[in-house]
Amino acid sequence: MKPSKPVILTGVRANNNIHIGNYFGAILPIINMAKRRSDEYDINLFIPDLHSFTTPIDHSKLYDSVLNNARVYAAAGLSLDNTSIHLYRQSYIPAHSELTWILDCFTGFGRMSIMTQFKDKSRKFLDSKITKGEMSDEQRIWDTIDRNISVGLFNYPVLMAADILLYGATYVPVGDDQTQHLEFTRDIAERMNRKFGDLFIVPKPVIQQHQFFGKDQGLRIKDLVNPAKKMSKSDESGKGIIFLSDDPKSAHKKIMSATTDSIGKVQYDKENQPGISNLLEILTLVRQDAGREVTLEQTANEYFGMDRYGDFKRIVADEVAEFLENFQNRLAAVDERAIEEKLASSEKDMNAVANETLYRVQKAVGLRK
Ligand code: TRP
Repeated sequence: MKPSKPVILTGVRANNNIHIGNYFGAILPIINMAKRRSDEYDINLFIPDLHSFTTPIDHSKLYDSVLNNARVYAAAGLSLDNTSIHLYRQSYIPAHSELTWILDCFTGFGRMSIMTQFKDKSRKFLDSKITKGEMSDEQRIWDTIDRNISVGLFNYPVLMAADILLYGATYVPVGDDQTQHLEFTRDIAERMNRKFGDLFIVPKPVIQQHQFFGKDQGLRIKDLVNPAKKMSKSDESGKGIIFLSDDPKSAHKKIMSATTDSIGKVQYDKENQPGISNLLEILTLVRQDAGREVTLEQTANEYFGMDRYGDFKRIVADEVAEFLENFQNRLAAVDERAIEEKLASSEKDMNAVANETLYRVQKAVGLRK
């Protein structure tokens, strides 16, 4: 099976505790984009499960959290019988791993070392591990790297390049933390094409990706307690985060105790009133999820100037609780068999596409006749 249309591809990492920041900021925009674009494009929506253990995880939960993510997509409105949308797990398509190895051998060590995600993640890990001891700083750092930072984290971008190149994807929505990886993908594709002839379709450069996806890229929901930073599960207290699995009552409480400001008038002003602005965004998003066609501006106008924050928060809290209840009902109603059938059929089709690309590469590098 060869895709007849240009390919949009995106991978969303498995996550067993999805919060509304992930949902409204990443998952829902992708699902909506897929719906809108699937007439003209093939949409590859996959779960990069092999990328999951480049940093330490609880392996006993991985398999289920991958399936759960697929369920969340369905509950978010992904149509399982749209044949232009392919939903698959990376590890079910062995060509990803095989192409990665080949690309690894054409990737410079130095080229990988400058990747900021690798540097950030390993630095975070080091900071959490390094304790004062007898060794010099440098020794301690290398010692910790040796024991804790995997080669997998290091060559993560090569696997990501394989994910994209196997399907000849032109469009890949990329957040800021992924732009370097896309640039690397273009790099290695061009380099291989120069060396071996036209092997790969080169994805569009980052600027064109942004032009293409435009507003499809979601808003960044902020932490409720500290609205200066984005909602992220690395916040240990959990008070600033609303998880999709939260009991609606406890979510209500979290909204009621969200940080606001001393200005005392509701308005959308991210700079001076980040907490209130965040609540206005959240309110708009849960309304949109309920099928209402509202914009952020409309919501901001509706509550503009309201001076009792408690009343405003209660409105947001009620609607967030309602959203969670609806979402959890939708999730419970997802047809398990339909998910498994969708994965199985996409994985079969995508194996065929990926194997064709892999074979072309294998021939080019001399592994096949
Ligand atoms: N690296 C991406 C992330 O952390 C996930 C991912 C893996 C991906 N392979 C991909 C995204 C290919 C787009 C295309 O979010």
